[in-house]
Amino acid sequence: HVNYLKDYQPSAFSIESVYLEFELSPLATRVTNSMQMQRQAKGDLRLDGENLKLISVLLDGEEVIEQCQIDEAGLTLAVAKEKFTLRIVTEIEPQNNTALEGLYRTSDNYCTQCEAEGFRKITYYLDRPDVLSVFTTKVIADKSENRFLLANGNLVDSGDLDNGKHFAVWQDPHKKPCYLFALVAGNLEKVEDTFTTADGREVKLEIFVEPRNIEKCEHAMESLKKSMKWDEERFGLLYDLDIFMIVAVDDFNMGAMENKGLNVFNSKFVLAKPETATDIDYEGIEAVIGHEYFHNWTGNRVTCRDWFQLTLKEGLTVFRDQEFTADMLSSAVKRIEDVRRLRSNQFPEDAGPMSHPIQPQSYIEMNNFYTMTVYEKGAEVVRLYHTLLGETGFQKGMQLYFERHDGQAVTVQDFRNAMADANGVNLEQMHNWYVQSGTPNLEVTRNYDAVTQKLTISCQQSLPNSDDFQPMLMPIGFGLLDKEGEPVTLEPTFESAANVELRSDTHAVLKLTQAQQSFVFEDVPADAVPSLLRGFSAPVKLHFDYSNQELALLAAKDEDSFVRWEAMQTLLLRTVQAKVAALQSCIDYQLPSEVIEVARSLLAAKEIDPALVAMTLSLPELGYIGEQYEVVDVDTIYQAHSWLEAELANHMQGQWLDVYHRCVNDAPYQYDKAQIAERMLKNLALSYLGVLSEHQSLVLKQYQAQHNMTDVLAALKTMLKHQHPRSVEALQSFYERWQDDNLVIDKWFTLQAQTQNDHALQTTQALLQHKDFSLTNPNRVRSLLGVFSRLNLVGFHRADGAGYQMCAEQIMQLDALNPQIAARLLGPFTHWKRYDEKRQQMMRNALQQILDRKGVSKDVYEIASKSLA
Ligand code: ARG
Ligand code: ZN
Repeated sequence: HVNYLKDYQPSAFSIESVYLEFELSPLATRVTNSMQMQRQAKGDLRLDGENLKLISVLLDGEEVIEQCQIDEAGLTLAVAKEKFTLRIVTEIEPQNNTALEGLYRTSDNYCTQCEAEGFRKITYYLDRPDVLSVFTTKVIADKSENRFLLANGNLVDSGDLDNGKHFAVWQDPHKKPCYLFALVAGNLEKVEDTFTTADGREVKLEIFVEPRNIEKCEHAMESLKKSMKWDEERFGLLYDLDIFMIVAVDDFNMGAMENKGLNVFNSKFVLAKPETATDIDYEGIEAVIGHEYFHNWTGNRVTCRDWFQLTLKEGLTVFRDQEFTADMLSSAVKRIEDVRRLRSNQFPEDAGPMSHPIQPQSYIEMNNFYTMTVYEKGAEVVRLYHTLLGETGFQKGMQLYFERHDGQAVTVQDFRNAMADANGVNLEQMHNWYVQSGTPNLEVTRNYDAVTQKLTISCQQSLPNSDDFQPMLMPIGFGLLDKEGEPVTLEPTFESAANVELRSDTHAVLKLTQAQQSFVFEDVPADAVPSLLRGFSAPVKLHFDYSNQELALLAAKDEDSFVRWEAMQTLLLRTVQAKVAALQSCIDYQLPSEVIEVARSLLAAKEIDPALVAMTLSLPELGYIGEQYEVVDVDTIYQAHSWLEAELANHMQGQWLDVYHRCVNDAPYQYDKAQIAERMLKNLALSYLGVLSEHQSLVLKQYQAQHNMTDVLAALKTMLKHQHPRSVEALQSFYERWQDDNLVIDKWFTLQAQTQNDHALQTTQALLQHKDFSLTNPNRVRSLLGVFSRLNLVGFHRADGAGYQMCAEQIMQLDALNPQIAARLLGPFTHWKRYDEKRQQMMRNALQQILDRKGVSKDVYEIASKSLA
């Protein structure tokens, strides 16, 4: 069954308030659901419900179960009344819920995940985001096994009952859709703090974890307080309940969930201490805690009319969490990290068979649309408004958005109207970003007239495989450097001025609104170099015929750190590509001297943030390199990539060593900008030095120092990659030390799954048999199978197809347990078109086999069938 945006109809009934009562028991939880309902339009009452055992249905106190028509997706009842109370009792089995959607068990605790359509696995309901209701929840459970009983809102009553049970009643005063419902119960431990809002209210903050993790909550609590403060200061948004709770669980399909007042998190995004968590983990925790907290306004107070509007809350909230991280750490570094993620993960999605606009027009299984496109490209589109309107204009738009829509379920059009109306501008053309899929190509050419000293910048936008494309509104961050690398004062001609917004003397935003459009500048010196798409001002593929010398100049001198990074990455990419071509035709290829020269001078530049230096000198990711090819030659690309790494290691050996020693720091671990940057550069140096056998002892020393997880993992990764003589032993000692820490053992699996060599497949196969591997824990599955299929290109794409076969078998087993995660694992298979014919055939066969499995889930069916179509 396919759902279409065009079929949207408001609900025929509303639910004014709902009272839920849960009698928790692992194999038979009884749910009593009393809804005050009101008719809004003609028609029968149709409630969503799946896998529920129906016990009774009372309509205003009268049993009507016999009149109900039940099918696998819900219940239909003809009701003549306008206003009535419907009381439904059902029974569910949380213990047997391995899909982790609805009410389920994790480490002997109860927890829920309702977004997108999980509430229908708890009780019969109008499970759609535009039905908003006031919830009261009573939880009853065995006291010895469930010390805490939690739900949304404020605790209004609690006490002991007979038979060793107790209860708690929670009331959420804010109307909400059922996807924001949450319930948690179990023997958890909590850490507490408080936050005082700008208007002087004290909010209780509580983080609940399993008792053994109680020492790992400090960073999460700090992150929460920073998030609350930041949202007040930057967006003027204050928290609206007396309590804010976070629960960390080990079994969770996604990162976290913004349930009103009771966020549930994958423990990966809560738990940290320096010995067990890396800088990336610390940053991830801060960002995800921020993200879920920011949803309180962008998602909860103003929610989505239907699931086609998902990017309304996710694109906007990702944009907000990106800005939060940028303000907490370094905006330049954060921007580059995000661009890298987008290009490595979202661009391929946009180019593949699951390509969809940020506002999808149809879906079979909504869970399949929690994608890089809806989230990350969606955030890029929100950033376009920000770039076009500036911070002040954007905030005016946000204010109007909340003024108009607080307490409502709205659409992306409502957001756009608020942005436009608050600023008195027309933003209708932005619509084209929401409904067209694929990454736009932006072709830029230059024409310099030496006599008039006029430079014409001509832009052409297009979409791949689209004839009837509608041009998009694209802001292009722009500047000019003279041939010494000095900034040129920008002087648009009179005709161009209307579409060139000067943000300073040397920086402008070009407003591209047409498929083809030119911008002309006067008084431009000869050989000026354009700096294009500064700040990655639009999510496009930029094409421009830079010479290597020009790239070197931009890398060294441009005022925009994204452009500097991009210029160097382009130089490195070109080098890998040239090597690939040389290897394919068996000819010799030498590393161009300008690559070494720029790399050397960047590494020597003490005035640049070490984090930026590190990112600039990191090789482009294999996935991104593959993206450049019609047909991906995995082995040759890997060979060329390793070659360039070895070249840079050899040619700059002395400098890498100097940098390494300069960055070694014995101070206690701190999560701060300076230390993070230092570790990033140090560990990049280590990864290059690790190529060279003479530095094996240095790498081992860093591993043995066990200073913090960032350094330990960097050393271990390098050891494995270059088959350090002590790597097997190190891996073993790592396991022994951390065997009781799930999140660290995930890293142990990942380390091995990502190591690319001839026995990568055997290693991964052996790990499937390890006693700590389990298909029912999503983090573990992602650490082994997700990493192997996405990052171990050499192993996954083995010429004999054994990598595909192993993954296909695991996916089929997993589909019977957890369809959401199984569907996610299909990702790498969907890109079959990018490989040679033999591999294409094997990948298609695997997809077909998965699709033909008796009992295939909707989730897997949708992705496998669309990929094969
Ligand atoms: N709204 C959550 C977040 O972005 C993600 C929930 C995803 N759930 C799902 N079943 N796909 O923070
Ligand atoms: Zn979100």
